[in-house]
Amino acid sequence: APLAIGVDIGGTKVAGGVVDANGVVLKRARRVTPHRSTAPAVVEDTIVEVVEELTAAAGGHDAVCAVGIGAAGFVSADRATVVFAPHLSWRQEPLRQALQARVPHPIFVDNDANTAAWAEWRFGAGQGETHLMMVTLGTGIGGAILVDGHVQRGRFGIAGEFGHMQVVPGGHRCECGNRGCWEQYASGNALVREARSLATAQSPLAADLLARVGGVPADLTGPVITEAAREGDPTSRELLAEIGTWLGVGIANLAAAFDPGTFVIGGGVSAAGDLLLGPAREAFRRTLTGRGYRPEARIVAARLGNEAGLIGAADLARAEVEGLA
Ligand code: BGC
Ligand code: NA
Ligand code: ZN
Repeated sequence: APLAIGVDIGGTKVAGGVVDANGVVLKRARRVTPHRSTAPAVVEDTIVEVVEELTAAAGGHDAVCAVGIGAAGFVSADRATVVFAPHLSWRQEPLRQALQARVPHPIFVDNDANTAAWAEWRFGAGQGETHLMMVTLGTGIGGAILVDGHVQRGRFGIAGEFGHMQVVPGGHRCECGNRGCWEQYASGNALVREARSLATAQSPLAADLLARVGGVPADLTGPVITEAAREGDPTSRELLAEIGTWLGVGIANLAAAFDPGTFVIGGGVSAAGDLLLGPAREAFRRTLTGRGYRPEARIVAARLGNEAGLIGAADLARAEVEGLA
């Protein structure tokens, strides 16, 4: 069968798609991620629902060869267990086994940023790059390392958790339990937290933002802030530039450690384009060790946008059943 199903499970949404061999999404299905206080089984019900809906949309069981799951968490080296997920209820959750009992197709579980990186390398902004790194800015920060088309997983499967590198000792509390993690400064959640705190402080700087949400700070979201920035609101631009600056500093540290050729920046916040990437590139150039003497990695926006995770999950699953991965 030429089609695969990919499901991306993030902190706020479950996004699935039927994906063909060229990485084109033919059908889509979406749900809200059940809150992390709910039982793991509830999230699994949601995934199964999405897979069943997509199987029907694809034309039935025989049209689908495999199901790939991109999960926002630490996935074990055998790609069966979600070991830990800061934004979800999973702790040592045997996700592959739980789903395989309810879905007839072979299932493969991976980290959501790993699947996004695979998709960008196969079909998007990372094509042809031998040393690719992906950074996704959503609820948290996701990371992935791809060398010669192979995801680098580390000894235990958990390599690439860049979001939880400490960048501010004693800084903001992270959902992983630590303080000062990078994702507390450069993610979608960080952007929204800063915008809401400005709005709650009744700062005149937040007037434009507040007007967009009927004066309710809690209703401010990433897309609202990005739209305001695009339409010229200086405060929203500044908030995005701050995120971008943190992003650029973090990426310079990653370059010091890994020396990739390209950084692909994805996730919801990357929709802001150069309003985010401009400040990121500037901070990168100011921070990179050996700058002026060494080759510099490119920093580019993901081309598959928010769908990279599900496209990569589907394509990696297909590659596994075809013996290509
Ligand atoms: C998680 C990662 C995930 C990322 C993006 C982080 O908080 O630790 O596993 O890839 O968020 O969803
Ligand atoms: Na990863
Ligand atoms: Zn953390």
